[in-house]
Amino acid sequence: MRRIIVAGNWKMHGSSEMTADLISGVARRAFEASRISEQRELGYDILVFPPAPYLSQAVANSDSLPITVGAQNASQFDSGAYTGEVSLAMLSEIGCEYVLIGHSERRKLFNETDDEVAEKFAACLSESVKVRPLLCIGETLAERQSGTTEAVIAAQLDAVIDKVGITGFADSVIAYEPVWAIGTGETASPEQAQDVHAFIRNKLDKLDAKIAQSLRILYGGSVKPSNAHALFVQKDIDGGLIGGASLEVDDFAGICEAVQKIIEKT
Ligand code: 13P
Repeated sequence: MRRIIVAGNWKMHGSSEMTADLISGVARRAFEASRISEQRELGYDILVFPPAPYLSQAVANSDSLPITVGAQNASQFDSGAYTGEVSLAMLSEIGCEYVLIGHSERRKLFNETDDEVAEKFAACLSESVKVRPLLCIGETLAERQSGTTEAVIAAQLDAVIDKVGITGFADSVIAYEPVWAIGTGETASPEQAQDVHAFIRNKLDKLDAKIAQSLRILYGGSVKPSNAHALFVQKDIDGGLIGGASLEVDDFAGICEAVQKIIEKT
């Protein structure tokens, strides 16, 4: 079984106090649910993606806790005159282990193109960088309604595959986030999500079965404690990328507890 990931994308929310409270609160609740407080090892991964100013603090706060820190964005460039940008080497140096690439809000609000997304993904794979890409893909409501979901997903994947090849996915993670389910309270049904996850895995499987079968594909879009279990037990869903419900200890820990129940049953 692939190891489940519970990832929290805080977007542009939070504070120094929230960073400390959330990390300690979620870790405590996850340990309680797993009843292994002495061993400091959970059977799944917890990731948090705080805003850039809190990344160093989050790395320090999660030291010796089973929580890994990632950034929400990074530049595709190594260094230079790019005012306001943050490089992958910088993120790596401060202890970030993951970076979100191509979140739909960056594509839509900041005009990130498929090409730029692919360049950022490729930059993560360079020798000197130790930050894993978590690639976000997903269709809009209009695209779903017009029956082009699979074509949209395929094009978003192809942009990256064309740039880095299938081997580029060996150490990465994908999040399927239907745009119409983000922040709307409307979740894809477990069947709808599973269908797209299976499409993604099958597409990659044709290129490299080993990479496709070990790749973790997360679902994102209004995941809550009440729907996490039904989504994450689907065959090709390996956890979630959570927005709103990652900002409160009770909600995020509730999702971790749902995962704990899943892994205890397997
Ligand atoms: P919500 O969980 O708030 O719908 O956000 C999902 C998301 O965009 C995570 O990246």
